[in-house]
Amino acid sequence: ALNLKNRSFLKEIDFEPRELRHLLRLAEALKLAKYAGNEVRRLHGKEIALIFEKTSTRTRSAFEVAAYDQGAHVTYLDPSGSQLGHKESVADTAAVLGRMYDAIEFRGTRQADVETLAAHAGVPVYNGLTDEWHPTQMLADFLTMQEASGKAPDGLSYAFAGDCRFNMGRSLLVMGALMGSDVRLTGPAELHPPKDVVQLAEDIARRTGARVTVTSDAREAVAGVDFVHTDVWVSMGEAKDVWNDRVNLLKPYQVNTALLEASGNPSVRFMHCLPAFHDPNTVVGRGIMEHTGMTSGLEVTGEVFESEASIVFDQAENRLHTIKAVLVATLA
Ligand code: CP
Ligand code: NVA
Repeated sequence: ALNLKNRSFLKEIDFEPRELRHLLRLAEALKLAKYAGNEVRRLHGKEIALIFEKTSTRTRSAFEVAAYDQGAHVTYLDPSGSQLGHKESVADTAAVLGRMYDAIEFRGTRQADVETLAAHAGVPVYNGLTDEWHPTQMLADFLTMQEASGKAPDGLSYAFAGDCRFNMGRSLLVMGALMGSDVRLTGPAELHPPKDVVQLAEDIARRTGARVTVTSDAREAVAGVDFVHTDVWVSMGEAKDVWNDRVNLLKPYQVNTALLEASGNPSVRFMHCLPAFHDPNTVVGRGIMEHTGMTSGLEVTGEVFESEASIVFDQAENRLHTIKAVLVATLA
């Protein structure tokens, strides 16, 4: 039998493929129960701390609503609202919160910090995004791809176009390897994932039968895939002055109608973890688009984002159901 009680989720490889599939099935069941209005509250009286060193809309909301749906309480510690990392070491904060809470979510810059929290808290710790990994997002992405295609994880094929060195590119590569999928990453050579991450994915793929490809040829990457993913070209915590360089490097990897058509798959779907810069509807997006002349969008065009192919809001909703599955599996 499969028992994930008291386990942390710091990166995708913390769970075996069968454990990840179990979490996806549990998420499906929890989603159905919520829709049917017969969800059983299995986290009554649990207390969960949510530490956000970086900002968030989806991840914070998903943890909060998942907890409330299941009868648990949360405390939100915002980027300026705790002593963590400024006046107190991560290890000391972990020891303190571990005395008060049943679990801790952490979003921040360094993977080492979430690992230190887990080592000292004595309760499950969940990575709500670091520069290196975004594991809870991977469960939502896989649930969404399964629902949209009706395929099992080992039948899924997808490409990610963009900055492959950062959390989303790295996580999509390793998660695809774990799940036995056909996963392709594409971006300029300067923005390919570090060698150790590619090596890790290739080693896992040998075990699972996955196919992993990293290429600078965007059209080759998307050929025949069911899903094309992208992410912002500049991530949280990066310097603002990298935008010009980044736009020049990534322009050929923009997800536009021509790139989707290059898949040769008329039912190809577009995915994005969000937030996205697709039309001039935000202060930051508008400024960068005007400055760089990228008037139809940055990592994705408004046309693709608004199209029938786009399943980004199903993907965002699934953050709730999948994060709830992680909470229930590790705490109930
Ligand atoms: N996708 C995602 O993690 O969104 P937030 O930054 O809004 O949490
Ligand atoms: N790569 C993005 C993902 C946001 C969910 C970032 O780290 O800002």
